[in-house]
Amino acid sequence: MIQIQGVSHRYGDREVLSGVDLSLGEDRIGVVGANGSGKSTLARLLNGLVVPTTGRVLVDGMDTARDGAGVRRKVGFVFSDPDAQIVMPTVAEDVAFSLRRHGLGKAEVADRVGGILARFGLGGHLDHPAHLLSSGQKQLLALASVLVTEPEILVCDEPTTLLDLRNSRQVADLLEGLTQQVIMVTHDLDLLAGWARVLVVNEGQVVQDGPAEQSIGRYKALMGAGRPC
Ligand SMILES: Nc1ncnc2c1ncn2[C@@H]1O[C@H](COP(=O)(O)OP(=O)(O)OP(=O)(O)O)[C@@H](O)[C@H]1O
Ligand SMILES: [Mg+2]
Repeated sequence: MIQIQGVSHRYGDREVLSGVDLSLGEDRIGVVGANGSGKSTLARLLNGLVVPTTGRVLVDGMDTARDGAGVRRKVGFVFSDPDAQIVMPTVAEDVAFSLRRHGLGKAEVADRVGGILARFGLGGHLDHPAHLLSSGQKQLLALASVLVTEPEILVCDEPTTLLDLRNSRQVADLLEGLTQQVIMVTHDLDLLAGWARVLVVNEGQVVQDGPAEQSIGRYKALMGAGRPC
């Protein structure tokens, strides 16, 4: 369970989030909103990549400002640009790197790495140079590198943005099948069809919080209202 209590955030003297109070406990939570509305800032607050200027964020009771390392063990974060997340030369090494501080033996690491890459359709690419994968494969690798550490909560910031329809569907199906809680920021509204809870962020505030259909309707209305004549 993530609790966001009285949170505001400023970059310099610009307030980009204000008065956010949320309890995030559902299995699947979507976040939509205009460019620059504060979605990524909100997502980054959830694992302590950004700490609030005022208020606090608690993950199972742990304050992100005080125990960032503990929070990041529970909350995995997937960026929209997988290149930002790939750190090692080969696919298998990149996934293994995530497990470096888990106190596991070589065989156990190899086992887990092989297992998750097979599950993500990358079992034939263990020794492949990671930077030579296709965009879709890179996104799957980024997801595998996060999920191999078995986080309880997965936060994804536009995980399908760079992907074509097939790869985007594959990532969506993978996310759908996870047992973890997933909190996903996306501009791909189709991905959220049927989700019980979608937040709409507008100008730094959560202006709608409800089932996908209603929230997406509100988001579209907001976007329509801002359309140039
Ligand atoms: N590191 C930063 N330093 C200064 N300002 C920032 C920083 N990160 C984001 N901002 C500003 O904060 C505001 C909210 O940005 P944020 O990235 O949270 O928006 P977003 O809703 O994720 O947008 P998008 O849909 O384009 O990804 C923007 O005005 C942005 O310019
Ligand atoms: Mg963003």
